[in-house]
Amino acid sequence: MAHSAQDIATFCKKKGFMYASSEIYGGIAGLYDYGHLGTKLKHNFENVWRKYFLSLHDNFFEIEGANIMHENVFKASGHLENFIDPIVDCSKCDFSERADHFIQAKTKNRHEGLSPEQLTKLIEKHNLVCPKCQSKLRPVTVMNMMFPVNLGTGKGNRAYLRPETAQTPFVNFKLQYELQRKKLPLGLAVVGKAYRNEISPRNFVLRQREFTQAELQIFFNPAKLNQHPHFEMVKDYRLRTLLVEDRIKDQVKERSAEELVSKGLPQFYVYHLVKIQQFYFDFLKIPAEKLRFYELDEKERAFYNKFHFDIEIELQEFGFTEAGGLHYRTNHDLQGHEKISKEKMEIFDEESGSKFIPHVLELSFGVDRNVYSLLDLGYDDDKERGNIVLHLSANVTPFFCAVFPLVKNKPEVTIKAEEISSLVKKHFSCFYDEAASVGRRYARADEIGTSVCCTVDFQTLEDNTVTLRSRKTTKQIRVKISELIKTLEKIYTGENLETLGKVVS
Ligand code: GAP
Repeated sequence: MAHSAQDIATFCKKKGFMYASSEIYGGIAGLYDYGHLGTKLKHNFENVWRKYFLSLHDNFFEIEGANIMHENVFKASGHLENFIDPIVDCSKCDFSERADHFIQAKTKNRHEGLSPEQLTKLIEKHNLVCPKCQSKLRPVTVMNMMFPVNLGTGKGNRAYLRPETAQTPFVNFKLQYELQRKKLPLGLAVVGKAYRNEISPRNFVLRQREFTQAELQIFFNPAKLNQHPHFEMVKDYRLRTLLVEDRIKDQVKERSAEELVSKGLPQFYVYHLVKIQQFYFDFLKIPAEKLRFYELDEKERAFYNKFHFDIEIELQEFGFTEAGGLHYRTNHDLQGHEKISKEKMEIFDEESGSKFIPHVLELSFGVDRNVYSLLDLGYDDDKERGNIVLHLSANVTPFFCAVFPLVKNKPEVTIKAEEISSLVKKHFSCFYDEAASVGRRYARADEIGTSVCCTVDFQTLEDNTVTLRSRKTTKQIRVKISELIKTLEKIYTGENLETLGKVVS
């Protein structure tokens, strides 16, 4: 059954996934806290992301950087000048909003990348007025979205909270390149916080002022843009794309990697589109029809990108929504840092015998948006079961397993169940629960996405077997304790529980 974004937000609060920050003081727009289930889900997503993307190449590594960075970083990157949003505000009341989003909500068309003058004209053309007091709107202006920080007495260097994690690898590039024995491609990933003074934070955790990104910057030789050593292996892989040319019909078209290359996209770029789609399909188990790559045209792209596809996931209420992007940033950032820092970014590449400033391909993911997407896709108000069921893949769900004693007033059973719980905890995330009826405990486990429940009963004491119940199907099988971990491993890697033992109900 269809659910609303409000259903998800209410559910997240009720179960303690995430909720407004500083809530006891009324909260602050655009800031959220993660409770323990949300934290586990978020960390699991981050760890799956790390495991997958860092293993794409032996020369890819994770680094961590300070969230507060020198003002010159943002002079060099262009953020001081260009990281601006258009604002529209009311001539009478306190209404103000991001102008392109405001117009988009009214006209149902995307208006990213238009100048303030163009946006003002659109407001006039569509006779848009203040939604609060119906007064005339002022001409569109711009505002820088970075948060300045006063350090110490405020008399030293000006600094900013980083608006993207990407700048950390750029300012670390030279040192890391030398430490990693001067090899390209070099991948530097950061999973961490980014801060943006969003004019209109909204849609729960989808547009926040402080959020988490997982980004991988791949530094490579630009002469190799049109090749990838493993392209042959993926050339027939079909990607779900919506190119600029598809917008008239607004339909996703499946195209092979080779076909995209024939349309002018570089091999190095398309190879990574494939890897991203495989991440969503094979690791996060997202249904194919829920994902698409949306090509941005020149005026919609961020100021530093030459090729730019958004990774979009279809959400129940918001439709296809950006969860990340694949950005070809050229040498824009390193060149900028060379100019401002006077540190040479040009390298001598021994393999090709040439000198150049490396180019960068950026794989960028909003962690909160991905976490929200997993919740939105997995949320199922199951009327037959009479409870919410959260369908999450085993590698991201907060708890893979739960162990229950069938009854709680029989020490022989509870002691055995605790023993089994300790055993399972050595291998998987697992919790022990003995409160309320076993049916109620199954429902609670379903609600937080627990893949499998293991119940210990009187029969366990006689024949050393336990019941395993699947969240997905509610089917139950009986397995020997000696085979429990092996069976759970099979379920974790995707085998159906029903095929792993005698189905008992
Ligand atoms: N380094 C490139 C970069 O930052 P971006 O498209 O501005 O690109 C990357 O941001 C991702 O970060 C987005 O695709 C989105 O998932 C997430 N993101 C951006 N702004 C956000 C916000 N205000 N709240 C939550 N997530 C956001």
